[in-house]
Amino acid sequence: MFKLANNIVESHSEQTHKQAVMYLFAYTRKHFLSEENMMQSIGFPLLTEHKKIHDSLIEQLTKVSEAPMKSDEDRLHLKNFIYHWLTKHILTEDKKYYKFAKENNITSQ
Ligand SMILES: [Fe+2]
Ligand SMILES: [Fe+2]
Repeated sequence: MFKLANNIVESHSEQTHKQAVMYLFAYTRKHFLSEENMMQSIGFPLLTEHKKIHDSLIEQLTKVSEAPMKSDEDRLHLKNFIYHWLTKHILTEDKKYYKFAKENNITSQ
């Protein structure tokens, strides 16, 4: 996802930018879905809450990416938003299920 966010900054034409955003969306959805499926399979108790956070990112991402991308600064803003959100999400929310899995001796499947 970080790499896909970088591609957005590096895309300078309207078309490559749209494509980069589309890839990011597709990848993010896929990642969230597999994460949620995994959480369900291990009985993670905060699944509903976590799913809401994922849905809210998709919503925010939609808004931010719909804003006009006229300059490098706009693209950088989108990238920073993604980096900031992702880092925060991984370090706070995703960490909760690693902890849950570890405490319950669930190894990766
Ligand atoms: Fe997550
Ligand atoms: Fe994640």
